[in-house]
Formats: sequence, structure tokens, C-alpha cells
Amino acid sequence: NETIYILAIESSCDDTSVAVLKNDIMLSNVVASQKIHEEYGGVVPELASRAHQQNIVPVTYQALAKANIDKKQLSAIAFTRGPGLLGSLLVGTSFAKSLSLALEIPLIEVNHMQAHILAHFIKDENMNAPEFPFLALTISGGHTQIVKVKDYFDMEILGQTLDDAVGEAFDKSAKILGLPYPGGPLIDQYAAMGNPHAFEFPKPNVKDLNFSFSGLKTSILYFIQKETSQNPDFITENLADICASIQFTIVHILMGKLKKVVKKTGIKNIAIGGGVSANSGIRKALKDAEKEMGWNTYVPNFEFCTDNAGMIGIVGYFKYKSGQFAKQDTSAKARYNL
Ligand code: KG4
Ligand code: ZN
Repeated sequence: NETIYILAIESSCDDTSVAVLKNDIMLSNVVASQKIHEEYGGVVPELASRAHQQNIVPVTYQALAKANIDKKQLSAIAFTRGPGLLGSLLVGTSFAKSLSLALEIPLIEVNHMQAHILAHFIKDENMNAPEFPFLALTISGGHTQIVKVKDYFDMEILGQTLDDAVGEAFDKSAKILGLPYPGGPLIDQYAAMGNPHAFEFPKPNVKDLNFSFSGLKTSILYFIQKETSQNPDFITENLADICASIQFTIVHILMGKLKKVVKKTGIKNIAIGGGVSANSGIRKALKDAEKEMGWNTYVPNFEFCTDNAGMIGIVGYFKYKSGQFAKQDTSAKARYNL
């Protein structure tokens, strides 16, 4: 039985990450986050590409050093082909091709959204892999999807956002409250001290299993404008209650769709991923659902929830085993279906 070493590269948004895997075990997973975007209140694509270009070689050396292996031992190079910001993806794609050419080893292209889902299969003492079929809820600053996962490479999108991603809903709400970017984790922190029923925000009425978060953002904006026109200190006096109420609304929307999809499919294995799965509200709601509705829920380690190359590497490993290699003329895809 051959030992497979995969070097994986992720550069779809604002994190430059390189990981080394030995079969399904993570040897290293180095992430360089780009601080530059904070002052702009969101990711600036042009700056992201430049930062990737600066970071990618040092991050690769760090990942190899941490894994304590020589590049000559590598079996293949896996990289994120898409979806994501085109300029950012091009940096990782070109670098991956060059490495594969120089080391004379195969190239493997990976869909970032598939990787968020298959991150659950990284072998780790703190994680259990979900059993097929399962439902995956991918929630982050860039994505909101419900996917039916029948097998490693047999996935079907059942619902997704029609406008903002759920992480954007958190971040844009936080911005309205004057909190710095990304505000999602701060809303979570303040929410812990507030009353989730203090204020009521309208829940969008979206058909089927799709989501919409832009209306919520607008209603929060109008609400804050109205209240602060009467009391300029409204936000400071009520910050915890406002955050708790926003978080309650978002978690309610997500759980509502999950209940709907469980009913529709009869599948009770639920796996979540993406940066928003760090949210304590959604984590608690899932734990409660285990007891109340008999669901099996799976939450990966935080390191594998946010964008990271480890999840690209596990897909690379599965693709290597089944002989799914890319050609040298492959190119990045900003839009790339599951
Ligand atoms: O997966 P991720 O690191 O990057 C992508 O967007 O792909 O996710 C980042 C998102 C941001 O919107 C951030 O505010 C949100 O995840 N986030 C949270 C929490 N931690 C991160 N949102 C709510 N509660 C949290 N605890
Ligand atoms: Zn992502």
C-alpha cells in the first residue's frame, strides 16, 4: 500500500494556505491571513491577488518544513481551481502548475465548495466522518449552500443564497452597528450577553430551500436609523440585545431550512462547514437538534471550517486514489459548479 503525500494550495479569497497530507492525515496546514482588507471593511480583490503572490512561496516552505518532508517525496500537487476571486485563483493555479512541472508529479484540481464538505474526512481524533448520505450546510463569508452528499464526488445542491452569504449578513449587520470587519465573531460575543427576543426582525419568506439575507440587512439598517434618530446612544445602550436578536434571527433562518430539508429527504446526518460554523448560536441549535429530533450533527475543527489548504488536500488524496488528475492546460474558474 503506497503512502501518498499531497501538497495542497488554497488561494480562492483572502487566505493564502498550503498544507501537506500523508494519506488522509494532516502533517501541516499553514494559513497566512491578509490583514490589509480590514481597513477597507471587506476583501479588495486586487490587493488579495498581490498578497497571495507575496505569501505563496514562503507559506509553501513553511508547510514543507512543518510537515518535515522534502519536496522530492511529494506524490502530487492539489490546488483550488474555483470558485472564488479570479485574480486570487490565478496565483494558486499558476504556482501549482509550475510545481507539478518542476517536480514532475501529477496535478489535481479541486472545487473549493466540495473541499469545504469533504473537510469532514480529514483523519483527526476530534472529528468523526459523517456517513453517506448526509446533508452539508456550508456557511461562510462567501457561501451559503445546502448540499445532498451521496458519495465523495456525488453531490447535489438543494438550496443556496439568492443574494448575500450568511457571513455577509453577520458582517454587514456588524458594520451597521459600527463594529470592525469581520464583525461576525463580535456579534457572537455580544450576543452571549444579550436577550435574543429583545427585538424582532422579519424573517424572509424564500421559496424552497434557498436563502436570502439582503432584506434582513436592510431591515436592520432601517431599524437602527429609526432608533438612533430618537436616541443617539441607542446602539451602545442595547448592543448585546441587538446582537443577540440578530443572531437569533439568522440561526432561526438556517435551522428552519435544515428542518425543511431533513423532512424532504429523510436524511438526518447533518454536517456543517465554513467560517460561520464557529458561531455559538448555530452550534447550540445543532446540539439541541440531536436531542430533540434525533439528528447526527458533525462540526469540523475550526481550523478546517475557515478557508484552509488542508481541505483541498483531502480532496486531492481522494482524487489521487481514483486517478482524477488535471491537465497542464487547466485554468482557474471564478464560477465553478459542484
Ligand atoms: O470561511 P471563512 O473564514 O471565509 C470565507 O468567507 O470563505 O468565513 C468567514 C466568515 C466571516 O463572514 C465571519 O464574520 C464569519 O465567517 N464568522 C462568524 C463567526 N466566526 C466567523 N460569524 C458568526 N459568528 C462567528 N463566531
Ligand atoms: Zn470558503
